[in-house]
Amino acid sequence: MIAPLIFNGEAIEILDQNRLPDEIVYVSCQSAEETAAAIRTLQVRGAPLIGIAAAFGLALAVRNFSGTRGQLEEDFLKSKNLLAAARPTAVNLFWALNRMERVYHNNKGQGIEDLKTALLGTAENILAEDIKINQSIGSFGEGLLGQNSRVLTICNAGALATGGYGTALGVIRAAHHNGKVSQVWACETRPVLQGARLTVWELMQDKIPVTLITDSMAGYVMQLGRVDAVIAGADRITANGDTANKIGTYTLAVLAAYHNIPFYIAAPHSTIDITMDSGRQIPIEERSHLEIKQLRGINLTVPDVDVFNPAFDVTPGQLITGIITETGVIKAPFRENIEKHFACKRGGK
Ligand code: MRU
Repeated sequence: MIAPLIFNGEAIEILDQNRLPDEIVYVSCQSAEETAAAIRTLQVRGAPLIGIAAAFGLALAVRNFSGTRGQLEEDFLKSKNLLAAARPTAVNLFWALNRMERVYHNNKGQGIEDLKTALLGTAENILAEDIKINQSIGSFGEGLLGQNSRVLTICNAGALATGGYGTALGVIRAAHHNGKVSQVWACETRPVLQGARLTVWELMQDKIPVTLITDSMAGYVMQLGRVDAVIAGADRITANGDTANKIGTYTLAVLAAYHNIPFYIAAPHSTIDITMDSGRQIPIEERSHLEIKQLRGINLTVPDVDVFNPAFDVTPGQLITGIITETGVIKAPFRENIEKHFACKRGGK
């Protein structure tokens, strides 16, 4: 399985996801500025992976710092804010930056070299932990699927969106490994085509049977009785189970409810934002009109047409059958059960 991000001791090498599937090219990010730009432009994307990239970006900022010790904290916070401003919706970005900030504060009394080592080590841990978390999500999730399941997914919540293995695709991967997946339906995911370009490529690399459809075909495929479960990733899950994910996810959840098909979200705890009460509070990123008006520089419409381009939507918790996490599957009532999950975690269980 291809690594979406590699730390080579000096810089992070990011697999440029804008060039997939045509070219497999790694770009090097040596600073917080370069990392923030790679996140903004979707060279690196997917909620857990942008958190991982940002953690390395912040560690690199301290590694590169050459001013006086008195200026270090200001510089650290400037880099943290720059990275935090790269994209607004995925809470994993802020989760990772806050974890880095705690390490900074716990180690700032040490020598600068020790501080650098602590920060780089934390970023490396976040990456390594994420892969294990996804494997655990995979094994809890695969238990929900029966033999010969046909699973529909949107966007890319795979190895390419995480440290490796994937969340929604992690479940599919684990289930396929156990002979349970006969077909994956990949929605192309307009306008950036993460489904068509990334999910299809990633699954085909692993020889997992995948069929590409346009987003508007999902309802028909369900009506034909050819979908047994929908599994999507998440960018932010609020305390009541409302879930922000790639635009089009909400439509799939409504369609799945109508057709009595289970609709699952697969995500790590770092995607759950218990500081937000409901999905109404989630900031939804709006991206450039050009993503809709053009495809690889070719005009698709009247150039000066008005466009609305939200990158995410919010699926109400009521439409979600279960949230698959690294510690188990959370079911309704979400407010109560998400709280219980976090209480168990706080208690060290
Ligand atoms: O805009 P993107 O490509 O970063 O959006 C990604 C998604 O919506 C994913 O489903 C989500 O981040 C979960 S990735 C494990």
